[in-house]
Amino acid sequence: MPGLRLDHVYKRFGRTDAVRDVSLAVDNGGFCAVIGPSGCGKSTVLRLIAGLESVSAGTIRIGGRIVNDVGPAERGVAMVFQDYALYPHMTVAQNLAFALQLTDEDGQQIQRRVRSTARAHQLEDVLVRRPETLAAGKRQGVAIGRSTIRRRDFLLFDEPLANLDADQRIAARREITRLHREYRSTVVYVTSDQSEALAMADRIVVMRDGQVEQTGLPLQLYDDPDTQFVAGFIGSPPMNFLPVVVRSAHPGGVTVGFAERPGADFTLPLDRWDVSAGTDMTLGIRPEHLATVSDLGGGGADGDRPGIRLQAQAEMIEPLGGWTTIHAKTTNGRAIVIRERGTSPLRSGSRLTVTAPTPRIRLFDQTGLRVR
Ligand SMILES: Nc1ncnc2c1ncn2[C@@H]1O[C@H](COP(=O)(O)OP(=O)(O)OP(=O)(O)O)[C@@H](O)[C@H]1O
Ligand SMILES: [Mg+2]
Repeated sequence: MPGLRLDHVYKRFGRTDAVRDVSLAVDNGGFCAVIGPSGCGKSTVLRLIAGLESVSAGTIRIGGRIVNDVGPAERGVAMVFQDYALYPHMTVAQNLAFALQLTDEDGQQIQRRVRSTARAHQLEDVLVRRPETLAAGKRQGVAIGRSTIRRRDFLLFDEPLANLDADQRIAARREITRLHREYRSTVVYVTSDQSEALAMADRIVVMRDGQVEQTGLPLQLYDDPDTQFVAGFIGSPPMNFLPVVVRSAHPGGVTVGFAERPGADFTLPLDRWDVSAGTDMTLGIRPEHLATVSDLGGGGADGDRPGIRLQAQAEMIEPLGGWTTIHAKTTNGRAIVIRERGTSPLRSGSRLTVTAPTPRIRLFDQTGLRVR
């Protein structure tokens, strides 16, 4: 069975174009995360798929069928919201059973399903309680259980874990992943937490201002972003961006240098003749791809390899156990973040040389497009 497909979908609210020309496809059984900053149109896309809003233009297909004119109840999708949307006057058991009342299952079957769903979501000991007496994690468990008690081929989640604390979030993540595997449902999962998307999805759609900025496999977006926006949105701490200037383009490479420091030029293996000397660009390098050499002047691990070298001073050291995050400032006053494995001997105020290997460096033009 085909999964889910949007073709050139638009949604206009008065004069706001909430969704503009969005096309996306989720394979049957796929797990697609939609991420992007607040207001970029994520919830609107989900509500359009669920049928809670109608499209201004474009086509939505669910399981191969065009559903533009099909009501929400007939689309065969279940949606889980951030704010749970549970019935406050009903117990947990009644909330779970409610979803089955319009089916032709008899009372005993319904009770059996309620019990097995409660078991799956660790809700057995709270079945007679009302939602408002439960902790946030349990409440979200009820909301997910209620949406999935009827086996659904299509599950839509709108930031379902946003109100949970860190522990509950990890448990709920595991639960949703398990459900997805067990039911082989097709999932569209909206989140503003890029790490959630990287961890759970097999495909990620990054949205910006109502449009799709880039779609890809999680690690493809991390390694090979098309734009500076995607590069900065995926990964934590975010990619460092530094202004550079093209010095020259020649066979096999483009030589760039830091705008303020003529001495620190380096050559990137780009086959581009269309970039001319003097062009301003932005260099991107992830914190985990930078290394520090605290012994100034001594060649570090990357000393003999091509790449960038920068002089900097450590400003703040965050030891995180397995990792250390170093916040530093380059000699020309640019803030950079370095993430190193293990513990670091550096102190705030330490002078250091920061290096990065050439293959890890990304370049972006002034419009934010990747220069490859
Ligand atoms: N019913 C509505 N009427 C008018 N404007 C709306 C409506 N729903 C959404 N919008 C607007 O559409 C745009 C996209 O909103 P949407 O809720 O889809 O964003 P979002 O990515 O889900 O944001 P958030 O991360 O804050 O939940 C926003 O500018 C929002 O104000
Ligand atoms: Mg939203």
